[in-house]
Amino acid sequence: MTAAPTSENRQRIYLDHAATGWPKPPAVYEAMDRFARQVGASAGRGAYRSASIADEIVASCRRRLARLVNHPSPQNVAFFSNGTTALNAAVFGVVGEGDHVITTAIEHNSLLRPLNWLVQHRGIELDIVPCDEFGRVDPAAVVGRLRPTTCLVAISHASNVTGAVQDVAAIGGMMRGGETLLLCDAAQTLGYMSIDMQASGIDLLAAPGHKGACGPLGTGMLALSGRAAAQMKPTIFGGTGSISQQLEMPTAMPGMLEAGNLNVTAIAGWDAGLSVLAVENPSSRSDDQDQIASRLRHLTSEIEGVRALTGGVLPIVSLVFDAVDVGMVATLLDTEFGIEVRSGLHCAALIHDFLGTGPQGTLRISGGHGTTLDEIDRLGEALKEIATELQLG
Ligand SMILES: Cc1ncc(COP(=O)(O)O)c(C=O)c1O
Repeated sequence: MTAAPTSENRQRIYLDHAATGWPKPPAVYEAMDRFARQVGASAGRGAYRSASIADEIVASCRRRLARLVNHPSPQNVAFFSNGTTALNAAVFGVVGEGDHVITTAIEHNSLLRPLNWLVQHRGIELDIVPCDEFGRVDPAAVVGRLRPTTCLVAISHASNVTGAVQDVAAIGGMMRGGETLLLCDAAQTLGYMSIDMQASGIDLLAAPGHKGACGPLGTGMLALSGRAAAQMKPTIFGGTGSISQQLEMPTAMPGMLEAGNLNVTAIAGWDAGLSVLAVENPSSRSDDQDQIASRLRHLTSEIEGVRALTGGVLPIVSLVFDAVDVGMVATLLDTEFGIEVRSGLHCAALIHDFLGTGPQGTLRISGGHGTTLDEIDRLGEALKEIATELQLG
């Protein structure tokens, strides 16, 4: 194998964007530094000048997010610290004792675990719709499980294991006119694909800010349709800077879901990242995302003993190796080639039964805004060397 990179000459190739996006556009770091050093005030509390600046940053970020997902009301967008807290707020906020919920086998544990807790402790009935061997879910199979008592359909826009994008708009279209709410987990698509909450009939859109949406770690969002906001119950209670004489939480958004101080430093960074996302591809280093996705799909065609599982347009691919531990391949890529990817189950408990990749999981490679074709080619060369070394095929 080629000489292992030392800490001095190591060139880092980051291909774990499905976990979190890196690097962020420079404007993100600058905005966070500026806010932390020069403003540093709470939002939604004081009336002095720097508190008003904090308020304006939060309001600006809400407006940008509403625009990004075509939501008419920025006030119905609430901030969270990641995708998981947003999904928990959504699930516990609208699902009640004994309700029926439909979800799918591709989901991340941030959705499956709260739903499973409700099955065990609140007697809800959960229907889990299967996926095919690439992680694709049939929209008709989801809608076919609807019952008069179904309060929620919860589905990811894309699998974080194979990148398979689900036709959420088709599901929303078939559900239109009914009373069941549609929750979409856009963790893998916000900032990478266009999302239209209104056209797709999405009532609750949950997503982290720190992946494709160019925010820093510590950001997430939940956007609610009018009818979802009317049904929503708060799950975290505390100070909101409003109607403070009252012991109940405000019933209006966003205060209903935003008890306690917001992480305005992170939101300032997210606001700056979204401003870059609105006008340009967030990294000048970035090659065309379709080309990256296509090059990734063909990565293993020349390597014996390696199979690629991918669902389509996103630059996410899961590799499966004949008789080799994926954790070892990930370690070799890191230590010998400076290539950072993730191995294992990717916090998705159920999909591996359908992909045939349990119990060890897959080697997941995920590109993002800054990924270049050259980086994918270097990954391909590294995988060939490793396959030769390990005598695969
Ligand atoms: C599909 C999906 N949903 C939810 C999450 C949870 O997001 P976070 O890590 O920001 O809590 C992830 C994270 O990888 C994800 O891939």
